[in-house]
Amino acid sequence: MEIVNTVKAVRNQVKEWKMSGLSVGFVPTMGFLHEGHQSLIQRAVEECDRVVVSIFVNPMQFGPAEDLDSYPRDLAADAKLCEETGANLVFHPDVEEMYTDSFCSFVDMNGLTKELCGKTRPIHFRGVCTVVNKLFNIVTPDKAFFGQKDAQQLAVIRRMVKDLNMDIQIVGCPIVREADGLAKSSRNTYLNEKERKAALILSKTIFLGQKLVKAGVKDAGELLRKMTVNIETEPLAKIDYVQAVSMETIENAAQIGPDVLVAMAVYIGKTRLIDNFIVEE
Ligand code: PAF
Repeated sequence: MEIVNTVKAVRNQVKEWKMSGLSVGFVPTMGFLHEGHQSLIQRAVEECDRVVVSIFVNPMQFGPAEDLDSYPRDLAADAKLCEETGANLVFHPDVEEMYTDSFCSFVDMNGLTKELCGKTRPIHFRGVCTVVNKLFNIVTPDKAFFGQKDAQQLAVIRRMVKDLNMDIQIVGCPIVREADGLAKSSRNTYLNEKERKAALILSKTIFLGQKLVKAGVKDAGELLRKMTVNIETEPLAKIDYVQAVSMETIENAAQIGPDVLVAMAVYIGKTRLIDNFIVEE
């Protein structure tokens, strides 16, 4: 497995693969990889002949008061995980390689980005769409793999690919959880011992929501009220949002039905965590 830092090096390698008729899978990440990312790489290895992983903490998707500087980084451990999982190439550009001084082109989205995380992170999805678009142009993959943990991001990327006629198949992959239920996230490392325990309120509430839906609750208001009351039993938790929306449009859903995304963001101390489930048929 090779680690490269330049756009040119990625392009040369991918061109060579494509000329040999090999399919290319792509897993974009911000590094500090865990089993959630690993499941994406595994899936890409299963479905594609060659796999590229990008590791780039994208400044454009962080707000001024967010955790860009403290975002955890560990290239050596990331490279090991990529190699062991079967990736063929890691793209690890520096900020200057991705954004030159004169950079002034952006990919923005009017719909899908106003609710959920878009409410408190108004510039986030513009940063995500712009960097993912750039990465897609650099890697030119046949398939790209995204986790359902960031469900709004998955919906936004699917829509961008559809609206802009990108010839890339987007594959959504299930949430990977710790043994006790907490959804895997690079940001879990911010939690101290007490907060780590308190953070379980997210997954517990997700499981409660799934149980209520299974038991036949159809009214979104009722479901969200019960989930909210459950989160409020945890003194360290502060709710950012608990919402039910259409997975396609990210507009509020009044009724629970197939393809409704039930999502939450909750602060545990200073750490903002997200979790969700999508209602099945
Ligand atoms: O999900 C992430 O880690 C990032 O938002 C992504 C897709 C790599 C873009 O920077």
